[in-house]
Amino acid sequence: MIHRNHDSKSQTVTPGVRRGTYEKPLITIHSLAATNKYRGRTLSATPCQQIDGVDVSTLVAKYGSPLYVVSEKDLRQRYRDFIKNLRKIYSDTYIAYSYKTNYLSGICTILHQEGAWAEVVSGLEYEMAEDLGMPSTKIVFNGVHKTSADLMRAIKGKSIINIDSFDEIQQIENLWPSKKDPAKVGIRVNVDVTYPAWSKFGFNLEAGQAFEAARRVVSSGSLQLNGLHCHIGTYISDHGAYYQAVNKLIDFALKLEREFDVQIEYLDMGGGYASCNTLHSQFLTGSAIIPTLEQYAEALCYPLRNRVQEFKSKPRLILEPGRSLVDEAVSMITTVVATKRFADGTKAIIIDAGVNILVTAYWYKHEFMTVQDMGPHLDNVNVYGPLCMQIDVIRLGVRLPQLQKGSQLIIKNVGAYNMSQSMQFIYARPAVVIVHHGEAEYLRMPEVMSDFRRLDVLPDRLKLQK
Ligand SMILES: Cc1ncc(COP(=O)(O)O)c(C=O)c1O
Repeated sequence: MIHRNHDSKSQTVTPGVRRGTYEKPLITIHSLAATNKYRGRTLSATPCQQIDGVDVSTLVAKYGSPLYVVSEKDLRQRYRDFIKNLRKIYSDTYIAYSYKTNYLSGICTILHQEGAWAEVVSGLEYEMAEDLGMPSTKIVFNGVHKTSADLMRAIKGKSIINIDSFDEIQQIENLWPSKKDPAKVGIRVNVDVTYPAWSKFGFNLEAGQAFEAARRVVSSGSLQLNGLHCHIGTYISDHGAYYQAVNKLIDFALKLEREFDVQIEYLDMGGGYASCNTLHSQFLTGSAIIPTLEQYAEALCYPLRNRVQEFKSKPRLILEPGRSLVDEAVSMITTVVATKRFADGTKAIIIDAGVNILVTAYWYKHEFMTVQDMGPHLDNVNVYGPLCMQIDVIRLGVRLPQLQKGSQLIIKNVGAYNMSQSMQFIYARPAVVIVHHGEAEYLRMPEVMSDFRRLDVLPDRLKLQK
């Protein structure tokens, strides 16, 4: 389509452009929202006016924009699908939900209602899980920094504790010298199946460190080795990596049972299963390339099922998924606050959600859906957040229709790592609502100014005189 901006008296004047100046004709190549062979549908041509039966306009009118919207139905269903696929193959499988992925009380509680245990990586998260009513025996305590007070609480509570370093072995021995009632612990193992390996965590298997750590635990007397933990990374889109990792862990567990006369009661294969989002580095869409839950389950469970007879007794399989459970259950509603055309012709919009509440924009090519019908013509548009930082970029060169100030967009699959990593910066964090049976209710109130200042202390001597 060609727009001609004639030098005519009837021409409407754009602010900043002098009447009577000549502007070059501009050729805009429009394309229709369509599927293509490689990248799927770039943007849904049909506007999405409801989330689980609740009108987006009603949600915005009542709760404001931006707004996180949790689908209770999707969250429950995702958990059920995952556990069903796992237990179909290996019945003694448990999911310990990775709290840091999204520790909103409502989200954790729904997953606990479904049967999930809690996987925590700090004393704070441990406290959250207990506060929500999780029995301490169903809490898996991981992480590189556990304080002595946190460890004592977990040992007394008979939680599953996965040790990360030789220093931590020593720390627990100092805390728990009892030889009569040894503290049960597992060790975290890192294995060479992904590049780059997550070598910061635990003890390397191939270099023999994990064996040395096991020997150290076994010889301590006040500790009892009862499990192995391994988390190979995050957004692992190759289920073959889990197949390799679980096989390595099984070999190692059997070797420990033989050599040290211990009983390995659990193998914890961590999290990392991908959601359907697309990484910036990926050409094909996430949904086109990620394994199904069934494929992950097969890769993890068959090796153990096939070799279970070799163990002293049937070990539990524990998984710690985060993003694969919650990412797709949450959407964000956002509103266009300004439209722009840069000096080089690039089209841009500013939306009211920045990287402070949509941290995953740094990693993902987030997908957008329009709410209002803006016609089928798409154009390349840069999408920025409202923060006063040049790096507040949500997406560059995304195909979008002719949006205007006030148009709403839905950003799908934002449940993982956005709320828990969000920060108070320039704007208050928005509300979170949950939709269920066509009704919406708060899971988190929107922040207000007093939330920003709640912990500030202003000594009297500094107060401004009125
Ligand atoms: C030990 C551990 N378990 C589970 C998870 C959850 O990972 P994801 O959200 O990729 O499933 C993480 C996150 O990195 C982790 O470090």
